Amino acid sequence: MISVRALTKRYGGVLAVDDLTFDVPAGRVTGFLGPNGAGKSTTMRMVVGLDRPTAGTATVNGVRYADLAEPLREVGALLGAEAMHPARTGRAHLRIGARSNGILPARVEEVIAEVGLEKAAGRRIKGYSLGMRQRLGIAAALLGDPPVLLFDEPVNGLDLDGVRWIRALLRGFADEGRTVLVSSHLMSEVQLVADRVVIIGRGRLIADADTDEVLRGLGGPRVRVRTPRAQELHRALVERAAVGRTAPDELEVTGLSTTEVGDLAHALGVPLHHLAEVEQSLEHAYLALTQDSVEHGGHHSGRPQGAVA
Ligand SMILES: Nc1ncnc2c1ncn2[C@@H]1O[C@H](COP(=O)(O)OP(=O)(O)OP(=O)(O)O)[C@@H](O)[C@H]1O
Ligand SMILES: [Mg+2]
Repeated sequence: MISVRALTKRYGGVLAVDDLTFDVPAGRVTGFLGPNGAGKSTTMRMVVGLDRPTAGTATVNGVRYADLAEPLREVGALLGAEAMHPARTGRAHLRIGARSNGILPARVEEVIAEVGLEKAAGRRIKGYSLGMRQRLGIAAALLGDPPVLLFDEPVNGLDLDGVRWIRALLRGFADEGRTVLVSSHLMSEVQLVADRVVIIGRGRLIADADTDEVLRGLGGPRVRVRTPRAQELHRALVERAAVGRTAPDELEVTGLSTTEVGDLAHALGVPLHHLAEVEQSLEHAYLALTQDSVEHGGHHSGRPQGAVA
């Protein structure tokens, strides 16, 4: 378990992490979400002792990283900017990490096999593809067989096979009872793999809940309906639910079922050309929750629940 308590990090005038408190429980995959610059990487770096908190604490199984007797056996991390000497082979990189932590060379071969790098392990890192580097970084995180694992944007730049592999790997770690914290921008990915999500914006906590709970918080089912008389249907719906106009002939209704929308249209004599429930996505929940905390980037043009002008 990872425990973050009133964690704060200030870089000069920038408040990167602002009084953050949350837990990452064992046996589950916890997704760590937030816009660019929200403070995800900074938080993760503080958990593994690469950055010193301005205030507050981050502990792994109750102990601060700096006080862990054998840190590599307690927590493993893939944090993106790993220093890898390009002229070394993948195997040599892992052996150096193992030796300096009292880990036997046989374990190096185990992690190489675990991440599927058997063929590439003898090659120099400078010739590795992005996916191979990610695998090597994960192998390094696994060296001490730690019960707590952190992955900062592990699927960045990976192809579909790589993404699916990471997903299965994270699931497997959690099923083994490990603590897994994974940051990502790919909401659909997070939705597929995360049992829980911690969402932050501008360094502050926005949500900390089960993925299902976050999806339920969207205000009930969402229904898409197409009709040539959208204006008329809209007028009737808007008294009963949240309605957005997504195209001249298309509405999105939150809070009513397809049956209710269909019956209402029928009562009005409005013909329907399409009526279906839209699967609730973490992306929608995320956009709704982070609306006010986007640090970079423009508005969300794809937002589904905008009011009709
Ligand atoms: N070493 C540093 N020195 C100064 N400012 C920093 C440093 N590291 C991070 N920051 C600032 O802290 C804030 C949080 O950055 P951080 O990298 O933690 O965000 P993030 O959520 O990981 O973003 P991204 O999704 O882009 O990876 C940003 O405003 C960033 O500019
Ligand atoms: Mg980051």
